[in-house]
Amino acid sequence: MNEVSRIVEVGGESPYRIVIGPGALADGASLAGHVRGRHVLLVSDSTVAPLYVATVREALHEARPDLLVGTFVLPAGEASKTLANFGAAIEALATLGATRDACIFALGGGVVGDLAGFAAACWMRGVDCVQLPTTLLSMVDSSVGGKTAVDIAQGKNLVGAFHPPRAVFADTSTLRTLPPRELRAGLAEVIKYGAIRDPLFLEWLEAERQGLLAGDDATLAMAIARSCEHKAEIVERDPLERGERALLNLGHTFGHAIETEQGYGSPHNDNLNHGEAVAVGMVLAARLSATLGLAENADTDRLIALLRSYGLPTSIPAGLAPEALLARMRLDKKNLAGRLRLVLWRGIGRAEVAPDVDENRVLAVLSGY
Ligand code: NAD
Ligand code: GLY
Repeated sequence: MNEVSRIVEVGGESPYRIVIGPGALADGASLAGHVRGRHVLLVSDSTVAPLYVATVREALHEARPDLLVGTFVLPAGEASKTLANFGAAIEALATLGATRDACIFALGGGVVGDLAGFAAACWMRGVDCVQLPTTLLSMVDSSVGGKTAVDIAQGKNLVGAFHPPRAVFADTSTLRTLPPRELRAGLAEVIKYGAIRDPLFLEWLEAERQGLLAGDDATLAMAIARSCEHKAEIVERDPLERGERALLNLGHTFGHAIETEQGYGSPHNDNLNHGEAVAVGMVLAARLSATLGLAENADTDRLIALLRSYGLPTSIPAGLAPEALLARMRLDKKNLAGRLRLVLWRGIGRAEVAPDVDENRVLAVLSGY
């Protein structure tokens, strides 16, 4: 721990701690403290592994020389979050001879965290998982709350499980190697917390743009901690998304449709990544809410200005047909009994779930009216 480090506790039935700060990946004693048995599978991706696997491996070995540490590396990018790679991760556990007290360390962004977490949920009906997020997006969102999943051609995250981690170590020094575009993508999810439940945080984000975009350690740690506090408060009350947790999906139904329809993003193409798609999705949700009389246009304009000031996209990429996006939205996990269930916006700091949104209104927004 040092002066910029922070801790957020997640309560509820399966409590765990989120450690936020530079150097967390090298703290072998703390990492190894979560390994009950002898087997560790370190899951990472092809960009992150060469940068940080050695640090984690050495830290673990120093603290626990008896550990058997295997490594499983995915090609970087959303296109790797597949059932096939999930199967390969399971094979890696079998090759390692991992027993029920094994621990999976997910070292990377949300793609690694979601896939590794799902493997942990399934291997021998559930083994421990420690999340080591290395993107801002995964630090503020995907590493916390226990949602794990892979994508299929029909849609994102359609196969998965709830499986809370044993601990989260968000080493903010890893953000120094994160491409600026990925940092901005994470800031979209940070802005989301302000938009749905924290007007003062949104104001702070308006004021602290320079420090955040410049990657200032202390400012980033503050943004991550505040975001994690919001997420912790919600998931400890509603871990399985029976109610208020759905609010965390503001803009996600639109965003997932864009991601799926466009083809998933990767370091090798220009498709929107998850955070960028969520930014566009939040704007569409805000516009829809404004047309339904729920949000003021002035609030929508303020949200759009904030997203733009962080260099995030705010409109649907060219070439995506509104009807095709709507068809994708019909397969969203929030929908019940064939009705379009969406998170709508009530203006800065307030959101709500609408159980049955008129598809024609959605189509109009997707068409730009
Ligand atoms: P990602 O995992 O694809 O990472 C983005 C890119 O950054 C990748 O190319 C990766 O290799 C690279 N990278 C990661 N860390 C790096 C570092 N420190 N230095 C240099 N490069 C680095 O994407 P993401 O934005 O982290 O996560 C998006 C995924 O998270 C999506 O699949 C989304 O569905 C999922 N998600 C899940 C939840 C949840 O609750 N489980 C919440 C939000 C998002
Ligand atoms: N990212 C939405 C959730 O965790 O519920």
